[in-house]
Amino acid sequence: MTAESTGYKPGLEGVVAAETRLSSVDGQKGELIISGYLVEDLALHATFEETCYLLWYDRLPNESELSAFKQSLAARRALPAATLALLAAVAEQKLPAMDALRIAAGTLDLDLGGDQTSVDQQAHTLTARIPTVVAAYWRLLQGQTPIAPRTDLDHAANYLYMLNGETPSPARVRGLETYLNTVSDHGLNASTFAARVIIATQSDLTSAIVGAIGALKGPLHGGAPGPALDMVFEIGEANKAEPFMRAKLDRGERLMGFGHRVYKVRDPRADVLSQAAEEMFKADGDLNLYNLAKHVETIAIKLLDEYKPGRNLRTNVEFFTALLLHGLDLETDLFTPTFAAGRVAGWIGHCFEQQRTGRLIRPQSVYIGERDRTWTPAAER
Ligand code: COA
Repeated sequence: MTAESTGYKPGLEGVVAAETRLSSVDGQKGELIISGYLVEDLALHATFEETCYLLWYDRLPNESELSAFKQSLAARRALPAATLALLAAVAEQKLPAMDALRIAAGTLDLDLGGDQTSVDQQAHTLTARIPTVVAAYWRLLQGQTPIAPRTDLDHAANYLYMLNGETPSPARVRGLETYLNTVSDHGLNASTFAARVIIATQSDLTSAIVGAIGALKGPLHGGAPGPALDMVFEIGEANKAEPFMRAKLDRGERLMGFGHRVYKVRDPRADVLSQAAEEMFKADGDLNLYNLAKHVETIAIKLLDEYKPGRNLRTNVEFFTALLLHGLDLETDLFTPTFAAGRVAGWIGHCFEQQRTGRLIRPQSVYIGERDRTWTPAAER
């Protein structure tokens, strides 16, 4: 039996496993649409709360709906005491922040009253609390006391506030907000699929989000950020960019932060984050680092065109994610949990959508094992 004769598609590549109104990823056009809006339009303008509302209810909220939605999230930010105690225990083991998020996420509905909770309440609570977990854990890991969330700040601003106790500048809030919006949804990626599979069994939303966090943690999905910026740091000075990257390409190595499996003309998320980084660094950031990164990008594209002609290798989302999040003073270990803080909007939207189909996800496997074995007792094996 061959893969062809059974219809088996390794990695489910090319298999359509859901219909969605949430996002459309067109790699050939270099286009990402989120609930009807080009990512360039939505991400640079929306608050994160507006993006959540859009993904969950398929339309933007009006002013009073937005205000009520913001208040609902803000009121749910504080963690159950047991979650905080758990995070303190995890910090003693010095586990990576993504492990802490995975461990804590399952406790986030502890005070919601079990099955009595509406799925909306769970959605608001999980989304509101993920940044609180990440910020609290980060501080515990540094031997600092967690900072209680504020209810007078919007979601993104409050996340930055809980990390260091400073009210962030509007430029930094905009930078984070644009990042969260940009990564809020991206077709049927692995963590989103995991969430849909779980919710499709009529399990609860918290279970689906814990599963999605587990999937996101893997290095083939969200779990290996940072190397793109490491290269910029290694290069250090503009005049070293070309010899450094030439040497890499001569050795047959890849330039981190360039090329994409799906986006073959441009990665629209990279364009959005490039603009967000420019605005943020110019208003409130380390301009030397920004200028160096832009120089590295220009030289990298020139060299990739020279070494890999016709491949059209362009800057990917990782490059500008690393630059933007570093500019917000987030350590590399916080990049993936911050990705989760944005992607949770999409995970929940997909769970709502999947619930409406009412259909269990149950694909098939092809048996390729032995068929003629007979049982032998342990002593005779
Ligand atoms: N630097 C140098 N060469 C690269 C490259 C990069 N970043 N990305 C792709 N190439 C080359 C490949 O070596 C290959 O060359 P060849 O045909 O001469 O062997 C060609 O371009 C096509 O690459 P291919 O492996 O088919 O692309 P892909 O679609 O399978 O890979 C990535 C996509 C993302 C895995 C790849 O571009 C990569 O490794 N990028 C760097 C890592 C990175 O930034 N990852 C984060 C992604 S969001």
